[in-house]
This record gives sequence, C-alpha cells and structure tokens, in this order.
Amino acid sequence: MRNVTLTIDGQKITVPEDYSVIQAAKELDIDIPALCYDPNLDIVAACRMCLVEVEGSRKLETSCSLKVKDGMVVHSETDKVVRARKDILQMLLDSHPNDCLTCQKAGECLLQKYSYRYDVKFRDHDGAMRPELLDTSSPYIFKDNSKCILCGKCVRTCSQVKGEREVLAFAERGYDTRIVLDADQTFETSKCVSCNRCVTVCPVGALVDKRQLGKIRNWEADKKTIQCKVCAYGCEFEVLSKNKKKIGVRAKAPANGRPLCLKGRLTTELLNIDNPDKPYRKIGGKFVESTWAKAIGLSDVMEKIEKIENTNE
Ligand code: SF4
Ligand code: SF4
Ligand code: SF4
Ligand code: FES
Repeated sequence: MRNVTLTIDGQKITVPEDYSVIQAAKELDIDIPALCYDPNLDIVAACRMCLVEVEGSRKLETSCSLKVKDGMVVHSETDKVVRARKDILQMLLDSHPNDCLTCQKAGECLLQKYSYRYDVKFRDHDGAMRPELLDTSSPYIFKDNSKCILCGKCVRTCSQVKGEREVLAFAERGYDTRIVLDADQTFETSKCVSCNRCVTVCPVGALVDKRQLGKIRNWEADKKTIQCKVCAYGCEFEVLSKNKKKIGVRAKAPANGRPLCLKGRLTTELLNIDNPDKPYRKIGGKFVESTWAKAIGLSDVMEKIEKIENTNE
C-alpha cells in the first residue's frame, strides 16, 4: 500500500493511504474527540464531534470518515472547530440527566470528559428532556435511555455477530429516536445473550454492567487484562480490583473469530472474583437464578465424572 504525507496541527506524518485523519492524528498523539467512532466498528460519522478544518475545504470535515491525502493540511483545534464541538456538547447536555455524581460511568464517560475539556455545562432550560426509559429486566445489564447519545456503537457491535445476535436497533425518528431490542423487547424477553459487547463500547452511562453497580467504577479500579479460558481463542476480560479485593469482571474485547460470550465472562468471574454474584440463565424468556455448574455448562460433565468415579469405586 502507498504511503501519504500530511500535516496535522503543524506536524508532518506519513501513514498508509487507507488511514483516516483521526487515525493519523492518533499516531501524533493528537486526541481528536470522538463519540461514535470506534476503529473496530463500521464508520458512520454520526456525532460530528471529530470535526476538523482542512485547508482548501469550506466546510468542517469529520476526521473519522475523511481519508488522508498527500499534502493535506489539517487543523484539529481551531476556534471554528471548538465552537462546533461546544454546540454539539451543549445540545447533548440539554437533553441529558444531570446525574454525574452517582452515574456508574462517571470517570470514563466521554460526554463528561469532553464537556470538561470544552467547559460546557448543564443548564436550566424549558426545552424537552429525554424521558427516563429504564430496562432493569436483566441481572447483567442496566439500560438507561435518558443517557443515550445515539452514537449507535451498541447497534454496530451487536450486529457484527450475524444471525445469532443483531438484537439492537434504532427505533422512531428525530428527537424520539431510541435504541431498542428486537422490536421493543426487554433484555429479558429479547434474544440478547448477555455478552456485554454493547456495554463495552457504550461511551456514556446508557448501558452499564449491572454486576458492578454501586461496587466499583472503572476509574477507581486496578485492572488486569486476562484471556478467557473457556475456548482456545481467548476473548479479553478485565478483572477490576479495589483495596486488593477482586470485585468485577468487565468484557473487554472479542478474540479474532469469537464474539465474547456470557459463559466466558461467568467463568472468568468464578475463577477470578472474590465474591461473585449469583449466576442467571435465560430460560423461556425469563432470567432464572442458576447454579455455577449449570451456568457455565459444566453440569453434564460433572454428572458424567461422578458416574464414572462411582462405577470405579
Ligand atoms: S452518562 Fe456521563 S454525562 Fe451522563 S450522567 Fe453519566 S457520567 Fe454524567
Ligand atoms: S449483550 Fe450482546 S447480544 Fe445483548 S444486546 Fe448487547 S451486544 Fe447484543
Ligand atoms: S446505548 Fe450507548 S452505545 Fe448505544 S447508542 Fe446509546 S450511547 Fe451509543
Ligand atoms: S466520531 Fe466522527 S462523526 Fe462521530
């Protein structure tokens, strides 16, 4: 592949020609804010937080979707760019609950991070607020639509696992747009498999891991990345600890060719957490408390082992 050389904020960089401007900026340690961009997902350029000025172009460009070009000159933090980002953030905050004090995502939330960076604040107004639409049906995931910024990352990651998942989708239009599961089901009644991929990519507190609620937040945790031991592919999980107590397991990244799964996360919890919550299985559209052996698919194996051992005695 051909390389191209461009200039970002006065610094020259040479990168492969299929790079986007945001990727090239990252190589220079220039942190362009982005809410809907994830290098592992399709690019949709929906949030417009990553706008930059490109010399020769009259409009601001989304750096996540803009491919690099030879001789391109990019400015990532001009007054015009900052004004546009502030407007976007203000619009998001104006319909967002002021809940940062108790939000599970505080400390790693991108909306919080960028609002701080650009000094944008919650304000009183008479306009509409997103209604509080909570889904508390799952023992694994808590969904709060009022915090959703409609970046669509959850929809894209869920739909990467074709056939088996593809649970999440956008519903309704305009201000009423929201994320739904299987034509407006809950986590319990939909075909969601509780893999937590959507939780992992959500940049705000709209989708959070329920097993960590009130126990530990990402910023305060000591983190250790480990590979799942259930199959040879080894999806990645993070063990979260505080004061030397292992408190939670967070789905981190699927392995190449594997999708991340509940069995892997529960097994990782069982092997690594000091006091794991009880496991649940979904049976006939209902979450049912389970034994660990059943939840991680070991009950048949254990029965067989017991049978063999009893026969040999
Ligand atoms: S999602 Fe982010 S901005 Fe919203 S309440 Fe939680 S921490 Fe604050
Ligand atoms: S937990 Fe997994 S299957 Fe369920 S909605 Fe999220 S990504 Fe889709
Ligand atoms: S739930 Fe989270 S990941 Fe999904 S669209 Fe809303 S903010 Fe984005
Ligand atoms: S990150 Fe580029 S448009 Fe959202």
